[in-house]
Amino acid sequence: ELGDYRHYMLKEIYEQPQAVQKTLEDRLDINSIKQCIMGDNVAEILKQVEEVQIIACGTSYHAGLIARYWMESLTDIPCQVEVASEYRYRRQVPRKNMLFVTISQSGETADTLAALEKAKKDGCLASLSICNVAESSLQRESDFSLMTIAGPEIGVASTKAFTTQLVTLKLLIGLLMQAKGGQSEAVASLVEDLKKLPVLIEQALEHDKAIEVMAEHFIEKHNALFLGRGDQYPVAMEGALKLKEISYIHAEAYPAGELKHGPLALVDSEMPIVAVAPNTSLLEKLKSNLEEVRSRGGFLYLFADKTSGIAPQDNIQVIEMDEVPESIAPIIYTIPLQLLSYHVAVFKGTDVDKPRNLAKSVTVE
Ligand code: F6R
Repeated sequence: ELGDYRHYMLKEIYEQPQAVQKTLEDRLDINSIKQCIMGDNVAEILKQVEEVQIIACGTSYHAGLIARYWMESLTDIPCQVEVASEYRYRRQVPRKNMLFVTISQSGETADTLAALEKAKKDGCLASLSICNVAESSLQRESDFSLMTIAGPEIGVASTKAFTTQLVTLKLLIGLLMQAKGGQSEAVASLVEDLKKLPVLIEQALEHDKAIEVMAEHFIEKHNALFLGRGDQYPVAMEGALKLKEISYIHAEAYPAGELKHGPLALVDSEMPIVAVAPNTSLLEKLKSNLEEVRSRGGFLYLFADKTSGIAPQDNIQVIEMDEVPESIAPIIYTIPLQLLSYHVAVFKGTDVDKPRNLAKSVTVE
């Protein structure tokens, strides 16, 4: 089943163009999203939604965090995101007409299931699961479901499940926009960008060799910082989680604007700093954050848009990424971070597909 791939994780990273394609297949019309993908009469429910609460764990939680940036930039619906193990044990102030969304690759994560039970008891408007496994507990317990069509994910470190979750969250946001009405141009542009994804992911994968060369620099390191701004901050969080779980290097993500409030003290020549820098409205802000790091002797590893004007220097390595629409940049910039942690782990000789102490499906509290 592995074919020419050395590990399932690498195979699954490379399957992402097809996984995304499948997740979009039969779900899009020319300028809109097919309303039926979430079931009949769903528009009536979505029209009533006044709040969205997203619950998940780990990588799936990071997908939720990105979706919040998207949801609140494209709709007027407030969106909250929380890890399941926190949500389930605290009281929430009741919110009116809340759509409760769970995200899970396995659909069997115990804390996520418990959070769903709680939300149902507290009286949410409707529950929706975004899962990769059909007939999973989470899907069965939810009113609605939107599947990710990533295919089986064997590697413990989640890769294609994450990018297809992001695609599916886009579909959900599009459905909400359609149900609320009056945004047909914005929906059309969302659909147009989604259709570009498979090709753009292929292009991102082409940096594999260069990223492998970059990865050698991390072998002897014990710590790494990951930086991003806006919807790239959760991308940085996901990059840090990947590095931690498969290469056992301690990694932390920060929103770049927070550096000066503490973590800058950690920066020296021993601390690699990874940053994702697409050409968005926040690029100039990010650049000045990166300068703060460079001027303190930090070594930067950047994944930057080729038009960003960031040039490689003695202590700056740059992988130049193709231009991508801002709206889907988090999906594209996830790819090189997956490859980076994969290659670091292979160099270090860890068990890439089965990292120590971790399980693929966390069915215990
Ligand atoms: C990280 C990873 C975990 C899972 C988390 C939730 O690579 O795989 O953090 O994302 O355990 O699992 P699911 O999505 O199955 O609920």
